[in-house]
Amino acid sequence: MDPKVGRMASSLLAFLLLLDGGMFSPSSPPTGLLEKVFQYIDLHQDEFVQTLKEWVAVESDSVQPVLRLRRELLRMTDLAADRLRNLGAHVDLVDAGFQQLPDGQSLPIPPIILAALGNDPKKPTVCFYGHLDVQPARREDGWVTDPHTLTEVDGKLYGRGTTDNKGPVLAWINAVSTFRALDEDLPVNVKFVIEGMEEAGSLALEELVQKEKAGFFSSVDYIVISDNLWVSRRTPALTWGTRGNSYFMVEVKCRDQDFHSGTFGGILNEPMADLVALLGSLVDSSGRILIPGIYDHVAPVTEEEKRTYEAIDLDLEEYRNSSQVKKFLFDTKEELLMHLWRYPSLSIHGIEGAFHEPGAKTVIPGRVIGKFSIRLVPHMNMSVVEKQVKQHLDYIFSKRNSSNQMTVSMTLGLHPWVANIRDNQYLAAKRAIKTVFGTEPDMIRDGSTIPIARIFQDTIQKSVMMLPLGAVDDGEHSQKEKINRWNYIEGSKLFAAFFLEMAKLH
Ligand SMILES: *[C@@H]1O[C@H](CO)[C@@H](O)[C@H](O)[C@H]1NC(C)=O
Ligand SMILES: *[C@@H]1O[C@H](CO)[C@@H](O)[C@H](O)[C@H]1NC(C)=O
Ligand SMILES: *[C@@H]1O[C@H](CO)[C@@H](O)[C@H](O)[C@H]1NC(C)=O
Ligand SMILES: [Zn+2]
Repeated sequence: MDPKVGRMASSLLAFLLLLDGGMFSPSSPPTGLLEKVFQYIDLHQDEFVQTLKEWVAVESDSVQPVLRLRRELLRMTDLAADRLRNLGAHVDLVDAGFQQLPDGQSLPIPPIILAALGNDPKKPTVCFYGHLDVQPARREDGWVTDPHTLTEVDGKLYGRGTTDNKGPVLAWINAVSTFRALDEDLPVNVKFVIEGMEEAGSLALEELVQKEKAGFFSSVDYIVISDNLWVSRRTPALTWGTRGNSYFMVEVKCRDQDFHSGTFGGILNEPMADLVALLGSLVDSSGRILIPGIYDHVAPVTEEEKRTYEAIDLDLEEYRNSSQVKKFLFDTKEELLMHLWRYPSLSIHGIEGAFHEPGAKTVIPGRVIGKFSIRLVPHMNMSVVEKQVKQHLDYIFSKRNSSNQMTVSMTLGLHPWVANIRDNQYLAAKRAIKTVFGTEPDMIRDGSTIPIARIFQDTIQKSVMMLPLGAVDDGEHSQKEKINRWNYIEGSKLFAAFFLEMAKLH
């Protein structure tokens, strides 16, 4: 973002390369081809920004189920497919069928792009996953500029989809196109999986991955996803884990209808009182989950892992200020990150059936549903967690001697994901980051759940890496989403350098 950081990075480069075990000869940073590639990307950066502008101009919102927007999504898919064909890639548009809406309507799901460029058996095959759809955005939501007109202010490229995920998809394409434009051999075989329904739950993706396991994906050695953010404005990151999630509903019912507290108050067990007791038994004020056994399978922290948290570029005070939280439960950066990334957490989300409007209605809800979820981490076992939650709630409920009925169900279960950071592609990405940014990456995990990583890893059983390009303040899904020109352009270089490092390591 700050061009000064970039310059500082390159002046640091020679020094860092000296430390890098002779990967380059220290007198010629970076090597000839890389230098040429970087120069090309710098010289053509306005063209790259222009293409991003054209992509941002397509309102490819997959969230609102309306035909007009679906047509935009189809247009976006064609635009990307054309771009890939122009690179010389073989492009398949795989029909993804229809989305059935609750009202009986159905809408087309944009086809999923499967593209391939090169199939030299001597080279590794690296497959990039990305998405072309975006979250809804309207100017009146609080945007200063039109969300579908890419606008540059102080090196920031504002617009919906700039960072999530059109910018990173194009950065990968820019890297490939640079080798093509320079008439240089691509160092790796490249594949693309690009979908248009990520923001709506990646409908049809998992099925496709299953179906193409022995087809399109059989030659894939590595999967790269670039769909999250750094934890800093300055320091690039590599993501090696995400938490899973198990979502619970606990219903307490007396009858379907509500009661008046003047006519029934005092003579029955109120469902809300039961539910509040149940929800109140789940977690204490230090954030510790009170369900017996829940921490039993949580992986112990290793020394190596501990060091990754210590090295991360996070200003706790700035983080606290920007989140407008007076005090977090933990006072050190390391503890905070571990509780976000590698320990489970339990959050209470809401109560269906509760009176929540302003005013003073004297209702006794007859039936209420409490909603909470547990973010899961390695090596928690989801079916064991489900059993523990049910047993705990049964026990708490039975102690109340309530005459109401309680039912507990787990409505969603997504596994956590963790990568092997000693894998070749992590080593290659680290080296590429050092070359482009002159620094070691923050080795980060993500506290939220990104199911695709786990889907790819489980189905194809190949190494999956998340290599984000955007800065922490990019505002994905939010108003004023942006990607810094610096991140976009250096990110294109990063992918190019990554290809070269992969070729060396393979
Ligand atoms: C955080 O906010 C406090 C109070 O407004 C201010 O004094 C401090 O400089 C801020 N720190 C950072 C790092 O932004
Ligand atoms: C999870 O626990 C269940 C029940 O105890 C067991 O059958 C299953 O094998 C476990 N799964 C894993 C991945 O350990
Ligand atoms: C529930 O009932 C048992 C036995 O009938 C009694 O010992 C206990 O005190 C009761 N608990 C509550 C919370 O009313
Ligand atoms: Zn995304």
